Amino acid sequence: MRFGAKILFEEVTTAFQPGRRFGLTGPNGAGKSTFMKLLSGESEPQKGNVFKPGKLGVISQNQFAYDEFRVIDTVIMGNKRLWAALQEREILYDKADMTDEDGIRLGELEGVVGEEDGYSADSDAAILLQGLGIPDEVSERKMSELQGGQKVRVLLAQALFGNPEALLLDEPTNHLDLDSVHWLETFLNSYKGTLIVISHDRHFLNSVCTHIADIDYETIITYPGGYDDMVLAKTQVRARIEADNLQRQKKIAQLQDFVQKFSAGTRASQVQSRKKEMERLQTSDLSRSNIARPFIKFHMKRPSGRVPLEVKDFSRAYDTNKIFSNFTGMFERGEKIAVLGRNGAGKTTLIKALMANGPGPFDKEPDLASGGGEVTWGHEVQIGYFAQDHRETITPGMIAHEWLHQFDPQASREEIRGVLGQMLFAGEEGMKPTEALSGGEAARLIFCRLMLEKPNFLIMDEPTNHLDLEAINALNFAIQKYEGTVILVTHDEDLVADTATRIWHLDKGVFTNFKGSYEEFQATMAANAK
Ligand SMILES: Nc1ncnc2c1ncn2[C@@H]1O[C@H](COP(=O)(O)OP(=O)(O)OP(=O)(O)O)[C@@H](O)[C@H]1O
Ligand SMILES: [Mg+2]
Repeated sequence: MRFGAKILFEEVTTAFQPGRRFGLTGPNGAGKSTFMKLLSGESEPQKGNVFKPGKLGVISQNQFAYDEFRVIDTVIMGNKRLWAALQEREILYDKADMTDEDGIRLGELEGVVGEEDGYSADSDAAILLQGLGIPDEVSERKMSELQGGQKVRVLLAQALFGNPEALLLDEPTNHLDLDSVHWLETFLNSYKGTLIVISHDRHFLNSVCTHIADIDYETIITYPGGYDDMVLAKTQVRARIEADNLQRQKKIAQLQDFVQKFSAGTRASQVQSRKKEMERLQTSDLSRSNIARPFIKFHMKRPSGRVPLEVKDFSRAYDTNKIFSNFTGMFERGEKIAVLGRNGAGKTTLIKALMANGPGPFDKEPDLASGGGEVTWGHEVQIGYFAQDHRETITPGMIAHEWLHQFDPQASREEIRGVLGQMLFAGEEGMKPTEALSGGEAARLIFCRLMLEKPNFLIMDEPTNHLDLEAINALNFAIQKYEGTVILVTHDEDLVADTATRIWHLDKGVFTNFKGSYEEFQATMAANAK
């Protein structure tokens, strides 16, 4: 498969055996999601064939895809044929005057529903949901109302609906807190079919996988063991190939010398044999590794006032569940605030409620603007926002370069190209259609926007989801170096430990506002627990 000049993988022959649990790895844009779509049949390979069992369970990278649907329906959609038949049947039944054709069609549809066990679909789905720890009352709700941990469980139920022989999961741990990740690890470790899971989370891959299929050097190589085993084996193999290549190059250089010296002389036959030898040794050009680090640097156009944010008696609740109440505080320019809490604690609600009272330019949620207390944004505060569903904030149907340019129309083409280059969209890469971007590439494009807008207050909701290791490191440095103020929601403990100067901790309505590093926060919490 290739896109333009970029080869993702070529002439790959590989197999995924039952009972094994494969991690599919590679940096952002390597082609992991693309490969998974080839396996699931969502897209066709440009060359070659895929052989697969009849039923596959799939979770795609976009966990927001089913937000509009009810939980129970989302599960049943796991059986596409059944779902399509159910939908069509409903439309026909709703018709005021049915024709004969409609009647015949209805008969066919009933046949499909029967074949696919449609009459027990609701109860089958309910049993699956119960087994995955989703309470009954949730099944009528919309997916958009669920928090990350529950959403992944429902999507798993969807994938498992209809007993697939293989499970394909694209970054299932994004949006999950640690407890939920551990739950998923245990679940997958007891799964009996073939598992292929994409993830950038080392710990997760180490604990779940029996094998790693790594996309690099324009091919896919499978290594036994977990992620760490793969990295070790990969560097060893690579070092051996490189050393071997170097040897050959030396030998070729010597032969070349000989040929040049004597080609005009009398040793014609020796020259000929040397030439043959050179051809035989010809080193194969090694494909370069696709691992690369972006360079993130956030500047600010101008600093904000000394106190960019102040809250007084600030409270919000969902129905009767309070998320936080009577929160009062003053925050200074340059603080790096990490927002911590389990799935469903209300982290996103907290920042959206703050922003609903703040300066634009992004979509605000008016419902969250009021509800108790006062929020005051300081002098000249300019917010840069990285939303949790970051992909949705990029308009589809545009060229990446154009999408970016609208945020600073004054910028020259060179400037735009420079920013894109920093984020690894070199040359043609910046001319991609926005909807083609991989999860990590979409995140990098939003970093481009923030680098261009140069805000003095960054609000980031789980920015490391979808990012590969190199990009996470680059983001870590960029946040440390940034002179503005930051509010960062994340489950990435390393990132919190390296950057935070203040912690907001949400736990079942108990809100802690702690000034200090993550280490100090943990020490204090441990002391309080005693
Ligand atoms: N229609 C398309 N036109 C051009 N390029 C495309 C198209 N579809 C995908 N690509 C490119 O193919 C590459 C592989 O994309 P893919 O989504 O498979 O990456 P990935 O390995 O899943 O990355 P991530 O870790 O960021 O999710 C990306 O560089 C992407 O931009
Ligand atoms: Mg992907």
